[in-house]
Amino acid sequence: MKIKTSRFERAAFRAADEPRAKGPDVILLGRSNVGKSSLINRLLGTKNLARTSSQPGRTQSVNFYRVNEAWYFVDLPGYGWARVPEAVRRSWKPMVDGYLARRRARIALALLIVDSRHQATELDLTMKQWLEAENVRYLVAATKSDKLSASVRARRERTLLEEFGASTVCEKPILVSVRSGRGMGELWRSVDASLEAWSQMTGADSGAG
Ligand code: GTP
Ligand code: MG
Repeated sequence: MKIKTSRFERAAFRAADEPRAKGPDVILLGRSNVGKSSLINRLLGTKNLARTSSQPGRTQSVNFYRVNEAWYFVDLPGYGWARVPEAVRRSWKPMVDGYLARRRARIALALLIVDSRHQATELDLTMKQWLEAENVRYLVAATKSDKLSASVRARRERTLLEEFGASTVCEKPILVSVRSGRGMGELWRSVDASLEAWSQMTGADSGAG
C-alpha cells in the first residue's frame, strides 16, 4: 500500500470516544511491551506517531491512527500487564473487551503480536482462541527478531508454529523486527489483502487500492 497520509486521530477511553468515520480497522493485540506501538510507527514510516516506551503499560487507551483517510490502525493497551498497577489493569479490560465487541464487524485483520524471545503465554493463546471463535482474520507476528541469532531464529520459527499453528492469513507465524525491517513486506501484504477482502465482503470501500 502506498501511504499518502497517516495521523493520530484519537485516544478512546469509552464507547463515546470511538471515531465514527467509516471504514475498516486493522488492530494490534498483544502483551504489554512486545512492540505494538513501535510496529505501527515502522509500518507507517513515522517515528513518533505512536508513543512507545521501554516500560510496559505505555498505551493506556484504544488509539486510532487514520491511514489514507480510509481506515484505522488500532493500537490496544497490552494485556498480561506484568508491572502495571492492578487498578489500571482493571480499567483496561472493559475498554478492550468493549472495543472488540462494538467494532467486531469492522475488524479487517488482527495482528497478534508476541515477543520472539519468549514462549507464548496463556493469555496469548486465549487471544488467539478468541480471534478464531469470532472468526476474525488474524496473523501472529513475533517481534524483536533482531535480538535473535540466525540459528535461534530458525529454531524459533519452528517452535512458534508448534505453539500457535497456522493463522487464518499465514501458514506460520512470522518473525518481524522494527529495527531490521524483517517481515514488513509480509505484514503489508497481509494488511492489503485483508482490507481488500473486507471491502468485498461488506461492499464498502476500504481504501485498499
Ligand atoms: P504497551 O503500550 O505497554 O502495550 O507496549 P507496546 O507493545 O506498544 O510496546 P512499545 O512499542 O512501546 O515497545 C516496547 C519496547 O520494545 C520499546 O523499548 C521499543 O523500542 C522496543 N521494541 C519494539 N519493537 C522492537 C524490535 O523489533 N526490536 C527491538 N530490539 N526492540 C523493539
Ligand atoms: Mg503501546
